Amino acid sequence: MTTVLITGANRGFGFALAEQFAQRGEGAVIACCRSPEKADALRALADRFPQIEILPLDVSDHEAIEALGQQLGQRPIDLLINNAGIFGKNPPATTGFADQVFGNSDFPEDWIKPFKVNVMAPMKLTETLVENVAASRQKKIVIITSIVGSIAGAMGQMFGYAASKAAANMTARNLSVALRDRGIIVNPLHPGYAKTDMGGEAAHVEVADAVAGIMRQLDRMSLETSGEFLSFDGAALPW
Ligand SMILES: NC(=O)c1ccc[n+]([C@@H]2O[C@H](COP(=O)([O-])OP(=O)(O)OC[C@H]3O[C@@H](n4cnc5c(N)ncnc54)[C@H](OP(=O)(O)O)[C@@H]3O)[C@@H](O)[C@H]2O)c1
Repeated sequence: MTTVLITGANRGFGFALAEQFAQRGEGAVIACCRSPEKADALRALADRFPQIEILPLDVSDHEAIEALGQQLGQRPIDLLINNAGIFGKNPPATTGFADQVFGNSDFPEDWIKPFKVNVMAPMKLTETLVENVAASRQKKIVIITSIVGSIAGAMGQMFGYAASKAAANMTARNLSVALRDRGIIVNPLHPGYAKTDMGGEAAHVEVADAVAGIMRQLDRMSLETSGEFLSFDGAALPW
């Protein structure tokens, strides 16, 4: 029996991952989201799959993360999926990447929020739930980052978001070193440029294909691969 905890599970990749894990039927799925009362699709999914437990969590609220830690107590968590993410004020889906271009910075909106949600939240969640992960069989933590956070592949756009994802990559890599002695596996993972609300219709990859690839990468995470920058399609990504 495994337990998977997913942040931002009410839509996009988080929802699709909750569905995949529930369909596998191997254990519990703790599906966290900001507003369970508004998460109609997730509540309908939990009606179909009773192993899904919906818990409220705004990942930018550190007191709420600590309360979640208290609530979970010593419950083992095999896989912590730090998925919740934010682009900034206007995601690519609404602007076709026209936002966060040079000369158009919206300070501090496009910088502080992505850093709070994309970087500090996974770190705080990991610090809070590390004993739960350590007590599990699989001991895996993933941070959903992005190819956009690749410094080698800088595209000259998406400044605040890209900086937050580069920092998230570093955080995952740093955690993989800090937690290796405890047998805990940590990876940053690029989920694919896919047609979620964030990616929009212009994205290259269908959500179902991206999520199938993400599941394959989560399955192959091991102490040997810990710290690598994983991609949904198995490609080797440049830092
Ligand atoms: N889609 C892509 O092409 C793409 C590419 C590379 C990386 N990513 C990354 O993949 C992850 C998931 O993105 P997505 O495409 O599924 O985006 P999405 O469809 O916009 O969904 C984002 C999810 O994050 C949640 N979230 C945002 N801020 C939160 C907060 N403070 N607390 C809790 N939950 C919060 C949202 O909850 P609400 O519904 O409450 O807002 C929603 O569930 C993100 O980390 C994103 O950066 C996406």
